[in-house]
Amino acid sequence: MIHLVTGAAGFIGSLLVERLLAGRRRVVGLDCFRDFYDPSLKRTNISASLRDPMFTMVESDLSGSFEQVLRDAIPQGEQVTVYHLAAQAGVRRSWGTRFGDYLRDNVVSTQKLLEWASSSGCVRRFVNASSSSVYGDSPLTPFSETRSLPVPVSPYGVTKLASELLVGLYASRDGIPSVSLRFFTVYGPRQRPDMAFHRFILAVLRGEPIEILGDGSQTRDFTFVSDVVEGLVRAGGSPACGVYNLAGGNGISLLEAVEEIEGAVGSRAELVFRPAQPGDARDTLADTTRLDHDLGWKPGVSLREGIRRETEWIRAAYCL
Ligand SMILES: NC(=O)c1ccc[n+]([C@@H]2O[C@H](COP(=O)([O-])OP(=O)(O)OC[C@H]3O[C@@H](n4cnc5c(N)ncnc54)[C@H](O)[C@@H]3O)[C@@H](O)[C@H]2O)c1
Repeated sequence: MIHLVTGAAGFIGSLLVERLLAGRRRVVGLDCFRDFYDPSLKRTNISASLRDPMFTMVESDLSGSFEQVLRDAIPQGEQVTVYHLAAQAGVRRSWGTRFGDYLRDNVVSTQKLLEWASSSGCVRRFVNASSSSVYGDSPLTPFSETRSLPVPVSPYGVTKLASELLVGLYASRDGIPSVSLRFFTVYGPRQRPDMAFHRFILAVLRGEPIEILGDGSQTRDFTFVSDVVEGLVRAGGSPACGVYNLAGGNGISLLEAVEEIEGAVGSRAELVFRPAQPGDARDTLADTTRLDHDLGWKPGVSLREGIRRETEWIRAAYCL
């Protein structure tokens, strides 16, 4: 069995690759090193895995011609489990002229990968990374997968919902068992530099102000990255199908999270409040009963411990 990870050099993808390799699985990673953030960070993310003989890295773009390189990387007759994490992330940038990037990487690329999965005949399971952004501003918390079609409030959320629908559509046409996991605000070592905890921890360590969009009372269900990786591995190895929430189960406000960061860093944050941005949901909170019931998954890392680990990583990464 080959485990194919798309977005393999990114924040979550690179940690999934390491986890699969630690279990002595054969892994093919695919990434095109987009410059949404500094690609050298992605090269660092994947550098240790490149030394493992069980790992093959393919530098290729899912929106282009990737089929031949995958044929070369995957020996004939092998069965494949796909973990599709490649995407254009970031809610705020999805408004305006960059929407084409989101369509290309989240919708067109997903459809092309599904076509490849279908025509190659080797894919036994397809796990797709979706997002809490599909829920938009639903007042019905905690968010449940079983309620009617969600209504995103950002173009990014629209593209992630489209990716889920495509995955479900191809699964019913081709019979490849497929899962979409809706991740809720993932944090931890290697977190993308555009994400709030990364920016906040760095600012407090440097004694710089933190910019809070809105009044800081908005809540998020923060999820530590190793818990997300655990959910991905379980989803890849189970017969479960459909859509699942994957969340840390600790909806707290942004201001409470800042207090935790102050505790981890050991100094106070200077807060600067700016207007809330369109596309940012007011509150996110997940019902994860389904994932627990079908995959035996529960979050394992508390917010305090998770922030401590991310703070340690940022100190080391920025030599602070
Ligand atoms: N980080 C979060 O909080 C979060 C929350 C919800 C959902 N997700 C989803 O999880 C997945 C991983 O997110 P992340 O935070 O690790 O992001 P990331 O940007 O660190 O990783 C995504 C990787 O995909 C690659 N990529 C993008 N388009 C590609 C293409 N067309 N072909 C090949 N590679 C391509 C990028 O170069 C990048 O390395 C994404 O699907 C994202 O939408 C993340």
